[in-house]
Amino acid sequence: MKMITAIIQPHRLEEVKKALYDADVNLITVSEVLGHGRQKGVDEYYRGSKESGNLLRKIRLDIAVNENFVEPTIKAIIKGAKTGKIGDGKIFVVDLPQVIRIRTEERGEKAIG
Ligand SMILES: Nc1ncnc2c1ncn2[C@@H]1O[C@H](COP(=O)(O)OP(=O)(O)OP(=O)(O)O)[C@@H](O)[C@H]1O
Ligand SMILES: [Mg+2]
Repeated sequence: MKMITAIIQPHRLEEVKKALYDADVNLITVSEVLGHGRQKGVDEYYRGSKESGNLLRKIRLDIAVNENFVEPTIKAIIKGAKTGKIGDGKIFVVDLPQVIRIRTEERGEKAIG
C-alpha cells in the first residue's frame, strides 16, 4: 500500500477530482494548505493566490491506495493538474504499512477502499 500526497493549484481541484473518479479512485482527503516551491512563491504572485508573506494557497490531496492503483492515481492527478506552468504542484508517494477501517476493524488491503 502507498500513501499518495499531492499538492496542486486550487483552481485544478475539480479537474483532478474528475480524473480520479474516472480512474475509479473515490476515497480522498482534501485540505487547504499554504506552501511555496523553488521559486519561493515570488513568480506566482500575479495569479492572486498569495496568502501570507510568500506563501501561496494550495490544495493537498491524501489518497491511500493498493499497489495496482498507484500509477493510475498518479496519472489522474497529472491529467487534472498539469498546465505546464510553474507551480503546477508535486506528488509524493510513500509506503503505507497499515490501514484500519474503524467500523469493521478490517485491516490492510481490505480496509483501504
Ligand atoms: N520538496 C518539497 N517539500 C514539501 N513541499 C513541497 C516540495 N516541493 C513542492 N512542495 C509543495 O508543492 C507546492 C507546489 O510546488 P511547485 O509546483 O511550485 O514545485 P516546484 O519544485 O517549484 O516546481 P515548478 O518549478 O514547476 O514550480 C508548493 O507550494 C509546496 O507547498
Ligand atoms: Mg514552483
